[in-house]
Amino acid sequence: MELSRRTAIAGAAAAGVTTATVGGTAHATGGRKPVKELFGKLADGTKVHRWSLENGGTRMKVLSWGGVVQSLEIPDRKGRYANVSLGFDNIEDYVAKTPYFGALIGRFGNRIAKGRFTLDGKSYQLSVNDGANSLHGGTQGFDKRVWDVEPFTKGSDVGLYLHYTSADGEMGYPGTLKVKVTYTLTRHGDWRIDYEATTTKATVVNLTSHVYWNLAGEGSGTIENHELKIAAGRYTPTDAGLIPTGELAKVSGTPFDFRKAKAIGRDIRDGHPQQVLAKGYDHNWVLDKGITAKPEHVATVCDPSSGRTLKIATVEPGLQFYSGNFLDGTLTGTGGSTYRQGDALCLETQHFPDSPNHSSFPSTVLRPGQTYRTTTVHTFGA
Ligand code: BGC
Repeated sequence: MELSRRTAIAGAAAAGVTTATVGGTAHATGGRKPVKELFGKLADGTKVHRWSLENGGTRMKVLSWGGVVQSLEIPDRKGRYANVSLGFDNIEDYVAKTPYFGALIGRFGNRIAKGRFTLDGKSYQLSVNDGANSLHGGTQGFDKRVWDVEPFTKGSDVGLYLHYTSADGEMGYPGTLKVKVTYTLTRHGDWRIDYEATTTKATVVNLTSHVYWNLAGEGSGTIENHELKIAAGRYTPTDAGLIPTGELAKVSGTPFDFRKAKAIGRDIRDGHPQQVLAKGYDHNWVLDKGITAKPEHVATVCDPSSGRTLKIATVEPGLQFYSGNFLDGTLTGTGGSTYRQGDALCLETQHFPDSPNHSSFPSTVLRPGQTYRTTTVHTFGA
């Protein structure tokens, strides 16, 4: 503990920043400008860059490809760092086989049934990439685009502005959508994401981030022993294609009840028909707080072995908890280990899946003249 704290302070001092002790952990009170390097090239020669950021004890590497968080390192209760986010060490794997590792998701997080919706009396057909449905924006969503990235330091914050303009009709969605995402690392080591978008035609938008978390370290095995708490009394059951039926079902008396913290593995083999359809947890929790003007704390994950914790606060009304059901041992991650079922979990803050086809769900419609804004904050501890 003492050694690692001294190392952190020495590193910060070398970088010309000061440190303060908050809750027993050394935190830098000033950030350095993010550093850029070449990560790889796409087949057409386009360069993909990687940005390294550090603040308040959190270290992060972000790609211009998909706004991907390639790694996120935080200390454990003894001050030992680990990368807690699944990813690849090369651009080719991100292009060819990523299940959205660390990526920005757009234009629409999760599924839209048959890739179809009607807005203002007009029907739209989206790109279909998940059986009969459209998942995470279609075959070439925001996770498969090169973003313009601009670094910033503001007071004690450091971060990146990521810009992408999605053309009218891209993946079947109406309107030119101008998107700006801000990744901020605060002096406390929080990772905050602010999303903004405007459109030239009425459209639907639901942006999120798809980090695969393993608080014991990527490639270290299952997350079934992680304890999870979600402030939600209801969730949205799905059909076999993982499209919500429209029902808001109570979690009470089911494996979906995470209102008190419990190990993810405790009820995962319960055999509830909804778990059988999804091969585990892959559902949207209806957050008790609903849509809020400011981010409110909705979920906590804790890895008892390392002591690392992640708290999520959001303005969004929904949270997709996905227990890494489709990881099947075929992908090799940054640390050289293959990823198997349940080796990570995703907690995607969002509006509900398939909202454009459910008038009872909170609306995802964005019109010209309006600005879409949403925020999620990740707070780390040990
Ligand atoms: C979805 C899963 C999907 C995963 C990665 C999650 O957001 O809910 O069904 O398999 O993303 O593709």
